[in-house]
Amino acid sequence: MEVGVRLLGVVLRILNLLLAPLFWLRARDRRALQRAPQPLLLRSATEHAAAVRKGEITSEELVKAYIDRVKEVNPLLNAVVDERYRAALEDAKEVDRRLAEARKNGKLDELVAGKPLLGVPFTVKESCSLAGLSNAVGCLEYAGRKATKDGEAVRLVKEAGGIPLLVSNTPELCLGWETTNLLKGTTNNPYCLNRTPGGSSGGEGALLASGASAVSVASDIAGSIRVPAAFCGVFGHKPTPGIIPIEGHIPTLSDPQFPCFLTVGPMARKAEDLPLLMGVMAGDNRPALNLDQPVNISSLRVYYMTEATKSLALLSVDKCISDKIKSAVKYLETECGSTICEEKFKDLEDSVEISVSEFFSMKDIPNMLQDPTNPKRDKSLFVELSKCVLGGGTRSLQGLGFTLISKNNLFIPVTRRDHYATQASRLKELLTKTLGDNGVLLYPVFNGLAHYHSGVFLRASGVMYTMVFNILGFPATAVPCGLHRGLPVAIQVIAAPNQDRLCLAVAQQLEVAFGGWRPPH
Ligand SMILES: *[C@@H]1O[C@H](CO)[C@@H](O)[C@H](O)[C@H]1NC(C)=O
Repeated sequence: MEVGVRLLGVVLRILNLLLAPLFWLRARDRRALQRAPQPLLLRSATEHAAAVRKGEITSEELVKAYIDRVKEVNPLLNAVVDERYRAALEDAKEVDRRLAEARKNGKLDELVAGKPLLGVPFTVKESCSLAGLSNAVGCLEYAGRKATKDGEAVRLVKEAGGIPLLVSNTPELCLGWETTNLLKGTTNNPYCLNRTPGGSSGGEGALLASGASAVSVASDIAGSIRVPAAFCGVFGHKPTPGIIPIEGHIPTLSDPQFPCFLTVGPMARKAEDLPLLMGVMAGDNRPALNLDQPVNISSLRVYYMTEATKSLALLSVDKCISDKIKSAVKYLETECGSTICEEKFKDLEDSVEISVSEFFSMKDIPNMLQDPTNPKRDKSLFVELSKCVLGGGTRSLQGLGFTLISKNNLFIPVTRRDHYATQASRLKELLTKTLGDNGVLLYPVFNGLAHYHSGVFLRASGVMYTMVFNILGFPATAVPCGLHRGLPVAIQVIAAPNQDRLCLAVAQQLEVAFGGWRPPH
């Protein structure tokens, strides 16, 4: 525990109370997406792929249906950064031509082998890089920049037959948990346009939730897949690090820890699509995850915690979230025969300290104050913040906030780094041993539901629930568990490294229990 961190936490709690009336005023505006997606867009990518293979629908019809839906919802969401609709329709027609020919020649099996996503459209978080499309990642100084190459995970999904439609919005260089930047503006949550879809994969979360995308290639360095999945009521899986290639990601840091913390991974509306996408995106590393080995839920051991700790200095977890964790536990026990274990993991109470201390010990973290004309000297944080508030700034407020934390390490003395590094490895060892190859931990994804735009400055401590698992290198899935007053409620399922299949199997069970994704309307 760090006194500075806790004091800051108390100050934030007080600010949350004082500023609550402002947010109540905004709460009166509850506009959401009005029209539900057509029935075709309620199906999984797995079902889409089967339908295209069987000739029940053409790839062109499918791609067109998604493009139409994106065009319908994007004026309200502002999720799309750059698109290739025309090229995608050409790709789809080519798939249809090849399928027709293969059917005629009895060579269908040959054509679809190794292409489980043949003819199925997908969308890409801008930072994951799609060749020919924008690659500025919300950064004014990169305006107009296009990706020259596909990110490696994107390439693998294309190789599996997927057809990319667009790249979607993120915060500036993915540094933040709200999807807003000076280049493309703010992305809205489809369940309440006044709220954030979360971030940094917020564009993907908003599109999936609206039925405007079937599956996404996204990335997670501190909750960037799981937070938007939770805020938008869809599934998102942060894989075990080192399995899915991260080449081509913007930004990529040279620090050796970076590939442990950052993972590229899938987001989807339907749980069954996660293992499919994981298998595709893992490429040659696929065998490490044993994705095809069936999971016996009745021999699963289920640990659960409804919050990290009871501390005055931390925002408490909303009751609707802890209630969902308890109902999930009950469901797994009574309906699936899993064994419920009561052991708790006390070291998680220092998640903020562990995460911040480990994360900011990385070298070459993007410095939002760097002056391109004078690399030796930083610009003044005060001047940049003022410009940002008054207009005319060149850096987003979140980016500057990130640099502020990076510069002062959230008041954690550098001398305490070893202490937190030791605590992190102790926690990693304990969790790895306890969860083993048949245990999961149910935990919140965030302390609350999707908040109003700009709420991140008051509520960012909620990422302690996701970020610590980037630091520890554990796989974790955000699972939607229904709506509370019209907003998605989600829980997190965590397993030991390389046991991703346990997270994915539990996600599928909980989808049955709670109904999974429910489109907004
Ligand atoms: C699943 O686990 C239960 C409890 O351990 C066991 O009784 C059952 O035989 C297992 N089923 C399979 C298919 O292995």
